[in-house]
Amino acid sequence: MKAVVFVGTRSVAVEDVPDAVLEKPEDVVVRISSSAICGTDLHMYDGRTGATPGLVLGHEPLGVVEQAGSAVEMVKPGDRVVIPTHVYCGVCVNCARGLSAACLRVRPGGFGAAYGYAGMGPYRGAQAELLRVPFADANCIPVPGEPGDDREDDLVLLADAFVTGWHATELAQVAAGATVAVFGAGTVGLLAAYSSLLKGAAEVYVVDEVPERLDKAGEMGAVPVDYRLADPVEQIRELRRAGGLAPGEAAMSGVQAGIDAVGFQSHDRLEPGAENPAQVIGDLARLVNPTGHLGIIGVYAEKDRHPAPEGHADGRLTVPWATFFSKGVSVRFGRTHDRRYTVLLRDLVLSGRARPSVVVTHHGRLDDAPGLFRAFDQRVDGVIKAVLRP
Ligand SMILES: NC(=O)c1ccc[n+]([C@@H]2O[C@H](COP(=O)([O-])OP(=O)(O)OC[C@H]3O[C@@H](n4cnc5c(N)ncnc54)[C@H](O)[C@@H]3O)[C@@H](O)[C@H]2O)c1
Ligand SMILES: [Zn+2]
Ligand SMILES: [Zn+2]
Repeated sequence: MKAVVFVGTRSVAVEDVPDAVLEKPEDVVVRISSSAICGTDLHMYDGRTGATPGLVLGHEPLGVVEQAGSAVEMVKPGDRVVIPTHVYCGVCVNCARGLSAACLRVRPGGFGAAYGYAGMGPYRGAQAELLRVPFADANCIPVPGEPGDDREDDLVLLADAFVTGWHATELAQVAAGATVAVFGAGTVGLLAAYSSLLKGAAEVYVVDEVPERLDKAGEMGAVPVDYRLADPVEQIRELRRAGGLAPGEAAMSGVQAGIDAVGFQSHDRLEPGAENPAQVIGDLARLVNPTGHLGIIGVYAEKDRHPAPEGHADGRLTVPWATFFSKGVSVRFGRTHDRRYTVLLRDLVLSGRARPSVVVTHHGRLDDAPGLFRAFDQRVDGVIKAVLRP
């Protein structure tokens, strides 16, 4: 089968690799109809995570079951399924509590796993013609319709991006009436803003520097904030004051919920071209109101092969804990718990209440992957979300 493989820093290739096959009775093999490229792939593409050459990339698949192992009961060949990024068994103690990103049975000697990701278990990636899905009864989310129909792009975003955006709003406790600031207007940040609006947030600000991404935030009903123009924290406070704060609430001119959808490769605002892994958490510490909440879904890598000057190879950061303490801000991190959210969000899509495909800007075949990775990484050609259709 053809697959997108990591070759080396800023290099991927489309190669022939052995077909995905059934390895255990609980497996299925899925023929991929769509497989998206994610900001998480860029951490590997940029040579930061120690991915080994030959790794098949990709963790955002939608497709049709082609073969099912003898123990699989919930799906059969011909069923259209979306496959969540984070592999889980469905029955261990963490899965039973809905905390499937910490599944105890999918990674020998560890917890949690994902397709096509360095250090996240033995599962090959999904930017390929075929994918082996373990624990298929748990990991195949059935969806109606046919490959290539008008929901294809909405459904593929259920594999990771929409679910992660929603998870961010859960970590940051976004509820009706909330004021929200999302740092990062990639797909994940945009869909965190979109999820906030679905939940009835009163005001949603989205901070970034890439014009097309800021425009997209505005199209969705959020307020774009370009951090190249001025300190984004002051810009948001000024916009909130201009909108009219209630009397006696001057100390609440920040936001109740802050979301970090950038992660350890965040740009240093004062030094264009440089990274500062503590930039976004530091800005959010200043911006979140007393008693507010911070949700961090941008990745912070435990092993960074080329740390920025402000960073450490083992992921240690200097962040203003005292500010969080004095404000009484909750800070929550982590990977999304697909088992908890995917079906709920699928039904929002199927009912027509959610159209996450609004963020998809590019499509290609597997052969287009090298060019799409390059453009996505360099933030050119307006790439926000690219979907490969093998
Ligand atoms: N927790 C999870 O389960 C999970 C799942 C998927 C993705 N992620 C992570 O979420 C993050 C975002 O993913 P994506 O696909 O949207 O990535 P992306 O690379 O498309 O977007 C990142 C955005 O952050 C912006 N940015 C950089 N520095 C900034 C700063 N200082 N302030 C504000 N914005 C800044 C960039 O301009 C870019 O638009 C990545 O770290 C990814 O690995 C986590
Ligand atoms: Zn992803
Ligand atoms: Zn489990």
